[in-house]
Amino acid sequence: MEGTATAPRRKGPRTGPRGRVAGAEALAAVDGATARLPKRRDLLIEHLHALQDRFGCLRAGHLVALAERLRLAPVEVFEVATFYHHFEVLEDAAAAPAPVTLRVCESLPCAMAGAHELMAALRAAPPAAGVRVVSAPCIGACHRAPACALGHELVERATPDSVAAAVANGPPALPDPPGLDSYLARGGYAALRRARADEKGARDTILAALEAGVLRGLGGAGFPAARKWRLVMAQPGPRHLVVNADEGEPGTFKDRYCLEKEPHRMLEGMLVAAHAIEAEACWIYLRDEYPHLRRMLEREIAALAAAGLADVPIHLRRGAGAYICGEETALLESLEGRRGYPRHKPPFPGEAGLFGRPTLIHNVETLWLIPEILAEPEAAARHASMGRRGRQGVRFFSVSGRVREPGEKLAPAGVSARELIEEFSGGMLPGHRFAAYLPGGASGGILPASLGDLPLDFGTLDAEGCFVGSGAVVVLSDQDDPVEAVRNLVGFFRDESCGQCTPCRVGTAKAARLLDAPAWDRALLKELAAAMADGSICGLGQAAMNPVLSLLRHFPEAVP
Ligand SMILES: Cc1cc2nc3c(=O)[nH]c(=O)nc-3n(C[C@H](O)[C@H](O)[C@H](O)COP(=O)(O)O)c2cc1C
Ligand code: SF4
Ligand code: FES
Repeated sequence: MEGTATAPRRKGPRTGPRGRVAGAEALAAVDGATARLPKRRDLLIEHLHALQDRFGCLRAGHLVALAERLRLAPVEVFEVATFYHHFEVLEDAAAAPAPVTLRVCESLPCAMAGAHELMAALRAAPPAAGVRVVSAPCIGACHRAPACALGHELVERATPDSVAAAVANGPPALPDPPGLDSYLARGGYAALRRARADEKGARDTILAALEAGVLRGLGGAGFPAARKWRLVMAQPGPRHLVVNADEGEPGTFKDRYCLEKEPHRMLEGMLVAAHAIEAEACWIYLRDEYPHLRRMLEREIAALAAAGLADVPIHLRRGAGAYICGEETALLESLEGRRGYPRHKPPFPGEAGLFGRPTLIHNVETLWLIPEILAEPEAAARHASMGRRGRQGVRFFSVSGRVREPGEKLAPAGVSARELIEEFSGGMLPGHRFAAYLPGGASGGILPASLGDLPLDFGTLDAEGCFVGSGAVVVLSDQDDPVEAVRNLVGFFRDESCGQCTPCRVGTAKAARLLDAPAWDRALLKELAAAMADGSICGLGQAAMNPVLSLLRHFPEAVP
């Protein structure tokens, strides 16, 4: 056993160290696994990844040793390690986990495509010895459902046979995104070069273009980008630029699409923003479910530095399987090496963000759109003019569910769900009739097909109690049970609540129990929803009951 003896009980004053003591063997193991990492507190999660990757779990003795090396209290290391789903903390004497973990996504789009049946089949007949099969939330492959992750590598359109083949031969390779040379050959980084060359006017030109292009934050809230930049610029430096690449909303896979299609568009948008706000560093927080993109970004960030295009440090950080870290202040906590507990706002990140400094946070897609908006003088107005029904701009919609061609659709703001299905997604699957849709992933509510002509954009669905958020449109047919869909969504929020505040922690668990009753207590559900909306710290708890409220309002005949 590696140096984790619990201090014996004694009478009288303490003479030795408190609690567990790091043993020499554990210290050596930690030093070996984390040798490449500086011993800094904000890098705690990177250290934990190094240990988890090396040993397949986090041994208690190693955590005590890590605490000593990082000069932290062991409890701080334990509370961070136990917060994130991708870390597995075990006592030193506990049996080692199975060498291979297969994560089967059971969030709504995958559940509709047979994930529960796949799970049952894989559990009944595991693909190989030494493979354990566990349930997981959305892994960003909702358009190729059902999806699994072997370790963290994606296996899409999974069947028992394809999973067995992936276990035997390794997961199927995903296409390699275009690199720096290819982007440069197509005129890439011209916007950044222009911004850097125009010493006096760059900021004003860029801000004017963002305003003319009506660029809004596409991570979910839709806050006007230029206004956010001005707020950050009004604060004294040093400032930071943070990229939110932690998408985890069931039905959302647009950050993945942007980074697979043209990663340097996002990196250019990021460097333009960093230049404009005079950021001293850029931080990319990438969800752990996209290891192929992590490898690509490591390579392309190095290429940028080698080409002399990165004039600020670019730090790539790895999430650890916590949906809540997509919330911007939880993300900042995670970047600082803590649990992803959302902060109270104000102060907003633009005033006091990463390490207490003014911080501009943007979603991948928001930054990805910037080079095009800055491409030429008319580009911004052209971008704005592309909306429908009086709305402005284009954006990605992640379309999944019962359509012929699910996938990422670049479509005008204000497009309707019916148009997304018919015009952009090849229509409904044969034998399926459009019955309902989620306009904005798990938290955006559910609408019936009779409201399928509403414009999808920020603010347009408020009157129906819904929102478009990150643009995850999940299409349900007459063969789907909306009650089961709601149970699935509320179960997701119960599992992903960070637990910091009682209305959300207790409320999501209670709601999930209430939804299992043969007859729903409508009054109690509404009362619970109001208490959670009023009392929760962040958007997760505030919106977690949206699917329930939608069902009560728009599908009364379906409610048990
Ligand atoms: C529960 C919750 C989860 C969120 N998840 C994400 C996410 O995965 N990606 C994202 O960009 N924004 C997410 N957001 C929104 C962020 O808090 C923030 O508004 C966004 O990163 C700002 O970038 P933008 O201005 O480009 O939209 C989430 C918000 C909440 C309340
Ligand atoms: S609302 Fe939920 S997710 Fe947000 S801080 Fe409270 S417990 Fe955490
Ligand atoms: S990958 Fe399964 S719901 Fe997104």
